[in-house]
Amino acid sequence: MNNAHKKILLSGTQATGRPHIGNYFGAMKQFADLQNEYLSHIMIADYHSLNTIRDAGELSRNILGVATDYLAIGLDPEKVVIFQQSAVPEHTELAWIFNTLTTMPYLMRAHAFKDAEAKGKEISVGTFDYPMLMAADILLYSPDVVPVGQDQKQHVEISRDTAEKFNHLYGDTFKLPKEIIMDDVKVVPGTDGRKMSKSYGNTIPLFASDEEIRKAVMSIPTDSKGIDEPKDIEHDNVFALHKLFPGFEFAEVQEKYMKGGMGYKESKEILIKNISRFIAPLREARIKIESDKEYVLDVLREGGKKAKKIAEAKMEQVRERVGVKLY
Ligand code: ADP
Ligand code: TRP
Repeated sequence: MNNAHKKILLSGTQATGRPHIGNYFGAMKQFADLQNEYLSHIMIADYHSLNTIRDAGELSRNILGVATDYLAIGLDPEKVVIFQQSAVPEHTELAWIFNTLTTMPYLMRAHAFKDAEAKGKEISVGTFDYPMLMAADILLYSPDVVPVGQDQKQHVEISRDTAEKFNHLYGDTFKLPKEIIMDDVKVVPGTDGRKMSKSYGNTIPLFASDEEIRKAVMSIPTDSKGIDEPKDIEHDNVFALHKLFPGFEFAEVQEKYMKGGMGYKESKEILIKNISRFIAPLREARIKIESDKEYVLDVLREGGKKAKKIAEAKMEQVRERVGVKLY
């Protein structure tokens, strides 16, 4: 398809550490799957990450790490604009303008803020204001779609509300974005059955070594049902992961779960084999890309330039609309 007729996609992830299979199936895989169909912009939200990472060396490594991850899962920098949020100052500039339109009570209803508050955490203004920077990230690029995991749905809704508010006040300026959430992988469960998340320590890293995969799968708690007893495919966390990594024996596993005939040990061994087979080529690709740091930096540099061009044009229009542009 001719690029001019393609719809626009924007998404991103923070630079907070090694990605896990929840990040992959919930968000990153869509970036790769959709790169031919959409004009795609995939961002590394490094300024968002500053809310949690205070060590400069760690943040730099993480940014480079995410760029490497994106390339390893098959994002093609010829087709996709891969860039750092911090390479485009228009993001923070627009976030400021949105700050002046948004109210405290509105932002206090955001899940991320409520969760942090419920945990009694000390909350930075940056965390409170997280959705406004994210709205700016999105709206600068006029995307039609924003592929994310379920937990980011509210953030995309807030972006839409913010666009509507601005458009209502200043005239039609921003396209209203829509989230894409894959139904069957809304929430990938972690090894403890809760949502897989870096903050719960229940992850299987996307580029895990074979030993890490074995250790993670073996740590999944199961009930005490014996080999011959039927098992609960709705609630067993080992089975939930079989669904994401089905091998040729999937039908047999499912049948034996329902009728009895497969113990958790055997089920876990099959799962380890299938996850390892899936991860090995990704891990190999990543090792290769990682060895060429200059290439990864080039991708970010070029991506930053392309993104800035788009954001600059939009920001010009915004400055004019709000009345600060005099010449
Ligand atoms: P984490 O909870 O591990 O810190 P992030 O908040 O960095 O993950 O999420 C990055 C992206 O991956 C988001 O789009 C998010 O919705 C998606 N995601 C994270 N965890 C999961 C999961 N367990 N299942 C599905 N998607 C997920
Ligand atoms: N909040 C997202 C996350 O934690 C990351 C993000 C920042 C993002 N800006 C975005 C995602 C814009 C999509 C679009 O995963």
